[in-house]
Amino acid sequence: MNEITPTPAERAEKLKGLGSSRKRVEDVRFTQGKGNYVDDIKLPGMLFGDFVRSPYAHARVVSIDAEAAKQVPGVVAVLTAADLAPLGLHWMPTLAGDKQMVLADGKVLFQGQEVAFVVATDRYAAADAVELVEVDYEELPVVTDPFKALEPDAPVLREDIADQKEGAHGARRHHNHIFTWEQGDREATEKVLAEADVVAEEMIYYHRTHPCPLETCGCVASMDKVNGKLTVWGTFQAPHAVRTVASLISGIAEHNIRIISPDIGGGFGNKVGVYPGYICSIVASIVTGKPVKWVEDRMENLMATAFARDYWMQGKIAATKDGRITGLWCHVTADHGGFDACADPTKFPAGFFNICTGSYDIPVAWLAVDGVYTNKAPGGVAYRCSFRVTEAAYLIERMIEVLAIKLGIDAAELRRKNFIRKDQFPYRSALGWEYDSGDYHTAWDKALAAVGYEDLRAEQADRVESFRRGETRKLMGVGLTFFTEIVGAGPVKNCDILGLGMFDSCEIRIHPTGSAIARLGTISQGQGHATTFAQILASEIGIPADNITIEEGDTDTAPYGLGTYGSRSTPVAGAATAMAGRKIRAKAQMIAAYLLEVHDDDVEWDVDRFVVKGAPERFKAMAEIAFAAYNQAIPGIEPGLEAVSYYDPPNMTYPFGAYVCVVDVDVDTGQVDIRRFYALDDCGTRINPMIIEGQVHGGLTEALAIAMGQEIAYDELGNVKTGTLMDFFVPTAWETPHYETDWTTTPSPHHPIGAKGVGESPNVGGVPCFSNAVNDAFRAFGHVHAHMPHDHWRVWKIAHDLGL
Ligand code: CDP
Repeated sequence: MNEITPTPAERAEKLKGLGSSRKRVEDVRFTQGKGNYVDDIKLPGMLFGDFVRSPYAHARVVSIDAEAAKQVPGVVAVLTAADLAPLGLHWMPTLAGDKQMVLADGKVLFQGQEVAFVVATDRYAAADAVELVEVDYEELPVVTDPFKALEPDAPVLREDIADQKEGAHGARRHHNHIFTWEQGDREATEKVLAEADVVAEEMIYYHRTHPCPLETCGCVASMDKVNGKLTVWGTFQAPHAVRTVASLISGIAEHNIRIISPDIGGGFGNKVGVYPGYICSIVASIVTGKPVKWVEDRMENLMATAFARDYWMQGKIAATKDGRITGLWCHVTADHGGFDACADPTKFPAGFFNICTGSYDIPVAWLAVDGVYTNKAPGGVAYRCSFRVTEAAYLIERMIEVLAIKLGIDAAELRRKNFIRKDQFPYRSALGWEYDSGDYHTAWDKALAAVGYEDLRAEQADRVESFRRGETRKLMGVGLTFFTEIVGAGPVKNCDILGLGMFDSCEIRIHPTGSAIARLGTISQGQGHATTFAQILASEIGIPADNITIEEGDTDTAPYGLGTYGSRSTPVAGAATAMAGRKIRAKAQMIAAYLLEVHDDDVEWDVDRFVVKGAPERFKAMAEIAFAAYNQAIPGIEPGLEAVSYYDPPNMTYPFGAYVCVVDVDVDTGQVDIRRFYALDDCGTRINPMIIEGQVHGGLTEALAIAMGQEIAYDELGNVKTGTLMDFFVPTAWETPHYETDWTTTPSPHHPIGAKGVGESPNVGGVPCFSNAVNDAFRAFGHVHAHMPHDHWRVWKIAHDLGL
């Protein structure tokens, strides 16, 4: 007779499914130096590419002389725009509907722009030859300020489209203007502002920064001329999209292109776009018939690959005297650099910035974003955020603080008063989003109780008194943030990139002995997909997570998907995984019923098996069912046990969080000590609590970096002032504080397992929380707002300007 012990709970624990803090399976490899990154790929006869880059931010390229460079032993070729032009590859389309020079075509538009590509037998020869390429530049006036770029007599940056009145996102009104994107009801919002008891107004700048993954961008392109097949290994966050775009640009049939993303050392949005290095490596491989590797160095990564943020946000928020918010108005001047290469879904040129009403029930709102060309690097990627959500969260969470100051009321109370209530979900915001689920009041109360909010405010007031009496030179700041994220792009009807619908996919094969492989359209860059997607499947199909291999990143084997960025993996590919698992289970049910000699409807699912209803001792476990699927002729059922799901999400998911940061600020040195950081995240159903905690720690540390020092700064000539890790702040263990993490669980009603994304939430919520804490420290002295990053000098300057 079949065994009916262990109990369902014991069997579920063995699966290591949903909710288990299963250890990361990929770490066995990573901690032993057995990862396989792009730069680990070494092919016979491989050549190396390196760029000649512009030292000027704006200049005409008068001539390029590569003769001396070609004489360097080992140099095989030096490519310029003139070599790419006959192939039509000297310009390439950007993800934002603009076009970008692959190699300088007549002029350069930012410092570090690619001018020529040297190909040599080793990277040292290539680097030596780069030094010998003589480029004659004629300097042009530089514009790094987007407001100045829109002045009538500003220099024309994009001469190629100077007379073009229509851009990819509508009318252009100036030679350096890219688009205007408007959302909401301007008239109604301005009426509310005109009639409001109180209006708070502030210019909030979210400075230019950079995702700066530990591994820089790179690729190895290998054209097999015999078979006509191009293989490209690269640091690609969206390998299938790269394959399609590569096919469209090169004319090589898509089945003859294989894109492989091996292990990736962090992406954070930096590895979504297409860079000139990829195109040049592919061309060089086609021309030479040899594999060509290009891996950028750190300075190239910071100076020339995709930047993030750079939004000037003019905000106005209206409220009644007792703190009921009545309207939000916002105008953004968005600095996109020399080319519009922002990585946003096509219909959203400012990404999901229109989530800027945040967690609050704001009746009317209006938003306009103006995209502008300047002499800075292109990019505009979602650095650990979902398409400009972090800018939106920063705006609203700073405006709430500014409003609280103007109203003279407590910022925690102001938030509580205006939160969208639990019974209002699904909630349609004034700017058009339908929030799926939330319970903000519960999360807020839990957070404030956990940190002892009342006591913190009392201590802060005492500190101000001590400061005034000259007993201390340290002020105390309490930073609050309540954020709502929007993650999981699609749905396909709203979201595409270059016309490719934003669904995702999972294909499962169960092996005869009851283990499995699942392949997905996403690609992990350190998030632990191999661990967590197996957990989703374990709970769906009753096979232990340890017996399931997860594979991503090879377009020849994985089903088509739009990749990993914007915390979309769990909301979209995670849902596809659950749905494919359910298809497996449906077939398994028929097989089990046959084996048990009962009708399909007479068996039911029980953790890892189908049991006969009312007779739990009669069952077939998944391993037995899998074996039967391959080895028994079952009437009416095909052999095998496989399924695939392409999941088009009906909506985004809306994770949220309540964060509190307590800082001590030394007014004489500008030093900010983070005394405490509490982070409550609600990402719906939690797949792996340990991984979630790791994601929150990582996201908060990147938020700390951005808020407290990380910046891509330019001088007035367009020179990058922070192009090395000597100047660009990346926190180490020394600067990173201890984080207290917590959670509530409000499942997504439309996701098959109720999960929402989490990877980016701590970055989205962390930045305003750190910033609010610093600004709050000076509130008692009449201070309202200071721009990030809050490095020592800038913090000292706040104190200095207040006369402290
Ligand atoms: O798209 P990306 O992987 O960057 O972000 P994500 O979907 O938020 O997932 C980040 C990591 O957290 C993955 O390993 C997820 O499986 C895990 N996660 C989780 O365990 N539970 C959730 N509710 C959401 C994510």
